[in-house]
Order: sequence, then structure tokens, then C-alpha cells
Amino acid sequence: MQALNILVLLHNFISLVDSDNCGITSRPGSVICDCQSQYRKLIPQHCPKNTTDLLLANNNLGILRGLAFAKYTKLRQLDVYNCSITAIEKSAFGNMVSLISLNLFSNPMQKFRRNVFASIGGLQYLSISHQLLSTYPESSWSDLSNLTTLMTNGEISNGTFSPVFSAMKRLKYFRHFLDNDMHVLHNDTFKAFGNIYLKTLELTGRLRRIERDAFLPLRVLCSLLIPNLKQLRLTNTLRSFYVFNDRHMDEIDLTSAFYSYGEYIITAELFQYIGNICLKSLLLRGNKIKTIDGTAIETMKYKNCLENLDLAKNDFDIHQILVISLLKLFSNLKRFDISQLEKDQHLKMFHYDYRRSSKNFGNLANRSMVNNSYHRISDFLISLPSSLEYFNGSLIEVRAGHSPNSITFTGIKHMKMLDIASTTLEDCNYTIQGLEHVKVLNISHFKCHVLNNTFIGSCVNLQQLIMHSSSLGTGLENDHQGVFLKDLKSLQHIDFAKNEFKSQFSKLAFQSQLHSLRFLTLEGNMFTNMPFNLNDFNHLRLLDIRNNKILYLTNTETNDIERVYTKLKRPLAIHLEGNPFVCNCESLNFVKWLFNTKVKLDRHGNYSCLFYDGSFTTTYEVYKKMQDVENHCSITSHRRWMIISILLFVVILVVGIVIVGFRYRNNLKTFCLERIIKPCRSDYQKIE
Ligand SMILES: *[C@@H]1O[C@H](CO)[C@@H](O)[C@H](O)[C@H]1NC(C)=O
Ligand SMILES: *[C@@H]1O[C@H](CO)[C@@H](O)[C@H](O)[C@H]1NC(C)=O
Ligand SMILES: *[C@@H]1O[C@H](CO)[C@@H](O)[C@H](O)[C@H]1NC(C)=O
Ligand SMILES: *[C@@H]1O[C@H](CO)[C@@H](O)[C@H](O)[C@H]1NC(C)=O
Ligand SMILES: *[C@@H]1O[C@H](CO)[C@@H](O)[C@H](O)[C@H]1NC(C)=O
Ligand SMILES: *[C@@H]1O[C@H](CO)[C@@H](O)[C@H](O)[C@H]1NC(C)=O
Ligand SMILES: *[C@@H]1O[C@H](CO)[C@@H](O)[C@H](O)[C@H]1NC(C)=O
Ligand SMILES: *[C@@H]1O[C@H](CO)[C@@H](O)[C@H](O)[C@H]1NC(C)=O
Ligand SMILES: *[C@@H]1O[C@H](CO)[C@@H](O)[C@H](O)[C@H]1NC(C)=O
Ligand SMILES: *[C@@H]1O[C@H](CO)[C@@H](O)[C@H](O)[C@H]1NC(C)=O
Ligand SMILES: *[C@@H]1O[C@H](CO)[C@@H](O)[C@H](O)[C@H]1NC(C)=O
Ligand SMILES: *[C@@H]1O[C@H](CO)[C@@H](O)[C@H](O)[C@H]1NC(C)=O
Repeated sequence: MQALNILVLLHNFISLVDSDNCGITSRPGSVICDCQSQYRKLIPQHCPKNTTDLLLANNNLGILRGLAFAKYTKLRQLDVYNCSITAIEKSAFGNMVSLISLNLFSNPMQKFRRNVFASIGGLQYLSISHQLLSTYPESSWSDLSNLTTLMTNGEISNGTFSPVFSAMKRLKYFRHFLDNDMHVLHNDTFKAFGNIYLKTLELTGRLRRIERDAFLPLRVLCSLLIPNLKQLRLTNTLRSFYVFNDRHMDEIDLTSAFYSYGEYIITAELFQYIGNICLKSLLLRGNKIKTIDGTAIETMKYKNCLENLDLAKNDFDIHQILVISLLKLFSNLKRFDISQLEKDQHLKMFHYDYRRSSKNFGNLANRSMVNNSYHRISDFLISLPSSLEYFNGSLIEVRAGHSPNSITFTGIKHMKMLDIASTTLEDCNYTIQGLEHVKVLNISHFKCHVLNNTFIGSCVNLQQLIMHSSSLGTGLENDHQGVFLKDLKSLQHIDFAKNEFKSQFSKLAFQSQLHSLRFLTLEGNMFTNMPFNLNDFNHLRLLDIRNNKILYLTNTETNDIERVYTKLKRPLAIHLEGNPFVCNCESLNFVKWLFNTKVKLDRHGNYSCLFYDGSFTTTYEVYKKMQDVENHCSITSHRRWMIISILLFVVILVVGIVIVGFRYRNNLKTFCLERIIKPCRSDYQKIE
């Protein structure tokens, strides 16, 4: 504590003498002088004269005196957030002819006594407490007429924004952080906005209710952003949108707006308040919505305006499918998101109970297929608008007894991203049709242990396939002909991470990608060596084979890599970290290669490895003491050779003896008889 106090004192002292410990960053066109959190009492005077951004947040400036910043005539941004400013003197901002952005948030100042903004009439961005702003002298409101962006926080007396707004003729964007005690937007909350042209209104914080006419004064509003308010009620919120009827709007963001109240069904009556707006982007994610009435969408007046619909992270049940089936009514829809939460969070599933809900399927499935849940349905149809570029249907848990023969998407014309990761059926023993115009497909976490080899054969123009954790090691076991990827001739990027691959790929596995493939991820599999000959690829840039089971690369493998590197004539990267490398006498060439190759390796080739003495070290350590290691190995191999030689010698000797013995067996016999046995016999005879 004592030490801290001394530190503070020291700091205060330093700032009094205006030390030059501010960070200065120069970029083309801007010079940033960063003096934040320094217990300063004075405005720093040592920043470069041409400083454009002066950051002073969290200091202790007290009163801003006249011409305090006069030195900095090039200043465009001034941040005095949380600077204990109690007053701003006349002409404090004098001479700051270029200032466009000012942050005054979190200062104890209560009241403007003068029109201090008079000298900075070019100001465009202002952050200030609403209470302080509302004390600006009325006779000088015109000082604020160039503001385009305003952020306020704090209390709003009587729940009505200050009349000073009426002078901000150029205000386009207004954001207010709602105070805890603000619960209702009244009919006259935005009264002061009646004759200005606000385009974007963003409210954050807490809000419970919106009166019907609250937004009436906002005559040209394009974007209404009220995310994360959580406590709003669906009914009165949507009803207050009636004022936007027949208007063109860019966005209504209702993310997690209704989270806490139990109105989880959007009826046709309610939805028409949205349907009557020509709205480009509607965000309804995270609202626990269970149902959007099918007719709600059918009866929307401006279906053609909608380009982005975000329904992610709600609680849809079977009716959600109906929503998908109605998507094609939105003829200009570009983005659709109905993804759910990550696993193990609150999760709602689709119950594909074909029997019970067959009448609801509408256009989605061929009715004749919808028989009962225990029967294999043969084909499944999903119609999408041809304008769709992004479809996120990931993380939806599907409960279907059996997979169908095929799932067919119709209408896809230029889909950039189709993300259905984790939205898997029981197996992949079917085909997905209609993906000819998809560029990026994410089907990770699919249960593909049983796999029809033509599963994604329709993706003839696919550039990126993300399919990690999908049991392909098992599923592709019998695909010796490489059918799985055969028709995907444009693939540049394949992610096959965590698929339990063990054995080498068939020679034909990537036959159609030899000219297209650039990035290949095989991370987290069980390969013990290079799963294919790299030299087959002509444009490879990155191979990620981290976390496999490779002990070391053999000379053949490193030679192949060198050959492909020479051939490619462009940088090649290989990621190898996380393999259980060994640094023993067999892998010495590999370790040397790691530090001599021009191929770009992760960790610069410095990986953990198991040393021959049983300890763990790094390849770099081993490389450093290569001479010693080589000596050790040559001695070991010397010894081994000696042992082998001796053994060999002994064997040859024995064999030689045997052969010689055999060849001269008769002589030997004679010899024996004569020299050994006979004398013995004669001995016997003698005894006898
Ligand atoms: C600011 O002034 C310094 C010299 O004092 C000069 O080197 C630098 O280029 C100037 N920066 C800008 C953005 O004008
Ligand atoms: C305000 O600045 C002081 C230092 O002057 C600091 O201790 C405090 O945490 C800051 N408060 C906020 C909300 O940033
Ligand atoms: C607003 O900016 C314009 C230039 O964009 C300038 O001519 C005018 O004086 C400014 N208004 C005020 C009140 O300073
Ligand atoms: C607040 O509203 C009350 C009555 O609703 C009114 O008497 C009072 O003048 C208002 N105050 C302000 C600052 O508008
Ligand atoms: C707000 O306006 C609506 C519609 O004009 C009206 O029904 C309601 O009574 C008004 N609320 C208040 C508090 O005046
Ligand atoms: C449903 O499938 C049958 C044959 O499987 C076909 O004859 C019929 O035209 C299909 N109906 C629709 C609406 O696609
Ligand atoms: C429905 O399933 C039954 C067997 O449960 C079968 O006999 C019948 O042909 C199926 N109907 C259709 C339309 O597929
Ligand atoms: C799809 O949604 C999931 C869950 O919200 C998210 O994690 C994922 O990044 C999204 N996919 C894309 C391509 O944006
Ligand atoms: C895969 O589907 C085919 C029909 O397309 C079927 O004959 C086969 O038994 C299925 N395989 C498995 C393992 O379910
Ligand atoms: C699917 O892959 C894309 C591209 O890598 C990624 O942005 C997205 O987050 C993935 N989806 C999920 C649900 O992880
Ligand atoms: C794979 O699907 C295709 C098309 O649906 C089908 O003709 C073929 O028989 C299936 N193959 C297997 C092995 O089930
Ligand atoms: C090699 O990796 C080890 C362990 O991560 C680290 O301690 C060491 O500094 C690295 N050496 C070099 C030269 O990067």
C-alpha cells in the first residue's frame, strides 16, 4: 500500500513536470500520442506538434483551461474519457480547427457554462453524458450542427431526450446507453428528433416497454438496433413498428431483445408489423422463439426486400423446418442463419417425427416419402431461393431414425457458404444433391462411419471442404477408387482433421485435386508416416499434419518433400507439431533436414522429441549437438557391426566346416576309423 502511494506520488510529480512518457505512433497521415492512465494533471505539451490523435483517458485533468490544446492545431481526435474534468473554460478548445472527434464520457462535470464548442464547429463525433449535453446553452445550439455521430449515456429526465437534438441537423447515428432506471420509451421520448434526419438509432442497456408511437418522430430512420435488451416484450415492441409501414429500412436488430419474457410464438398478426416494412436485414437471433407462424411469412407484404434473415439460437421445433421450406418466398434473400447453440449449452432439437407432422411439411419433402419414422424415406427436398449466398444451418440436432436415400437442395445458384456442421443424420449413407454451385461447404461433425462414396459428388464447383471429426477414416476405408472426391475438381482447401485416418490414402484419393489443392489439413489423425506422395500435387502451399503419430520422416519422405518444393517454385509450409517424434540414431537425417530445408515448418522445426536415452528434448537441442549424437550413433553402430561381423564369421565358419565335412565325409570316415576307432578297437581287442 505504502509502496503504491509512493508510486502514485512519484507519478503525480512526474506528470507535473510533464515528462514525455507518452507512446507516439506515426502512421501515414496520422500521429497518435497516447498518454492514457498516467495520473496526469496537465495537458502534455511534448507530443509532436502535428499530433492528430491525443489519447488522455484515465487522467486527472480537473479544469480544462483556455487554449489548453492550442499547440496541437492538427488534432482530429481528442479522448478525455474519465479525466475528472470538472469544468471546461471558454476557448479551452480554441485553435483546434481540425477536431472532428471528442470523447467526454465519464467526467464529473455537471453543467456547461459557456458555448465551449463554438471553436470546434467542425466536430462530427461526440461522446458525452446526456445530462451534461442537455445543459448546453440554448442560444449556442448551432455549435452542434455539424455532428453526425453522437453517443450518450446516463439519465434522461422525464424519459425524453433533450431538445438540443433538434439543432443537430446532420445527425445520422445516435446511440444511447440506457440507464438502469429507464424502462419505457414514451410516445414523446424522441420528440426532439422530429425535424432532424436520424438514420440509425441504437439503444443498449435495459428497456421493458416501447409505447406505440415512440418511434413516430424518427421519420427517416433506416436502422433500429436494440440488441441485448433482453426484457422487452415481443408484442408491444413489434406493434410500435407500425410507424415504419411501407418504408425502406436497412436493418432491425432484435438480437436477444425478448429473451426474458415468455412470448415465444410470433403470430401472423404480429409478424405483419415487420412484413409491412421493406426491410433488408432482420435479426431475431437468441430470443427463445419457438414458432414463427407459417402464414406470417406467406402474407408478408415486402417479402422481396429481405436480404438477411437471422433466426439463429432460438428454440424452434418442427415448425422451423417449415420456415426453411418457406425461404424460397424471399426472392432476394442472400443470408440465412438458423444455426443453434454449441453442444452442451441449452439445445433444442428437431424432431423429425415424420408420422406426426407430415401435414406440416409443405414443399419441403415429397409427401409420398413421409410415411412413418421407422421407414427409410427415400428422398428429401429443400427448396432455397436462388439469391441465397450464405446458409448457416449448423448445430441443429436431428432426430431421425434412418437417413434417406438422398437430400436434394433445389434453387442454389451462387452459394458462397453452406454451413451445416453438426447437423447430421445417423449416417452418411445417402447423397446430397444440388450443390453444384456451392463454394464452401462445412459438414464437420457428420456421422460418416457409414458413407455412400458419392455423398457430396454433386459439389462439382466446391473450393473449400471442411469436414473434420466426421469418421472418414472408417467411412472411406473401402473407397479404393477415390470416388469420394472424384468429381470435386475445383477443391483448393480440404480440412480432414480428426477423422481417425490411420492408413495411407489410396493413390486415387486426390486424383482430381492434384492441380487445384492448395491447403490440406490432416491434423489430429493417426498417420504414422506421410499419407501420400506429396510430389503428386502441383500447387500445394500448406500441409497441416500436426498431432498425428509420426515418429520421424524417412529419407524417402524428406526427399519427396524436397522434390515437391523444387517443383512448386513457391513457398510450401508443413506443420508437424504435436507428433511423437523420436530423436534417435535412425531419425538423425530427419532432424538435420528440419533445420536445413527451405520448406517453411511450424516452430521453425523445433519440436519436442524423445531422445535415445529415454528423456524428452527438442529437435533443436539435438541438432545443436549433432556431432556428439552422431558419434554416439556411429559407436553404437560400430559395435553393432562388430557383433554382426563376429556372428557372421562364426556362422560362416560353422557352415564351412559342415560343408567341408560333408564333402570329405568318406575321407573323414576313413580317417576316423583308422585313427580313432581302430586304435580303440585294438585296445578293446587287447583287453579281450
Ligand atoms: C509529423 O512531423 C514529423 C516531423 O516533426 C514528420 O516526420 C512526420 O512525417 C509528420 N507526420 C505527419 C503525419 O504529418
Ligand atoms: C478512471 O481513471 C482512474 C485513474 O485516473 C482509474 O483508477 C479508474 O479505474 C478509471 N475508471 C474507469 C471506469 O476506467
Ligand atoms: C460545419 O462545417 C462546415 C464545413 O463542413 C463549415 O463551413 C461550418 O462552419 C461548420 N459549422 C459550424 C457551426 O461551425
Ligand atoms: C417532467 O414531467 C413533469 C410532468 O410530467 C413536468 O411537470 C416537468 O416539467 C417535466 N420536466 C422536464 C424537465 O421536462
Ligand atoms: C401513445 O400513443 C398511442 C397511439 O397514439 C396511444 O394509444 C397511447 O395512449 C399513447 N400513450 C400515452 C402514454 O400517451
Ligand atoms: C414425389 O415422388 C414421386 C416418386 O418418388 C414423384 O412421382 C412425384 O412427382 C414427387 N412429387 C413431388 C411433389 O415432388
Ligand atoms: C407406408 O409404409 C407402409 C408400411 O408401413 C407401406 O406399406 C406403404 O406402402 C408406405 N406408403 C407410402 C406412400 O410409401
Ligand atoms: C454458423 O453458426 C455457428 C453457430 O452460430 C457459428 O459457430 C459458425 O461460425 C457459423 N458459420 C459461419 C460460416 O459463419
Ligand atoms: C446403405 O444404403 C444402401 C442403399 O442405398 C443399403 O443397401 C445399405 O444396406 C446401406 N448400408 C448400411 C450399412 O446401412
Ligand atoms: C464451418 O467452417 C467455416 C469455414 O472454416 C467456419 O467459419 C465455420 O465457423 C464452421 N462452422 C462451425 C459451426 O464451426
Ligand atoms: C450411393 O447413392 C447412389 C445415389 O443415391 C446410389 O445409386 C448408390 O447405389 C449408393 N451406393 C451405395 C453403396 O449404397
Ligand atoms: C525450442 O523449443 C523449446 C521448447 O518449446 C524452447 O524452450 C526453446 O527455446 C526452443 N528453441 C528455439 C531455438 O526456438
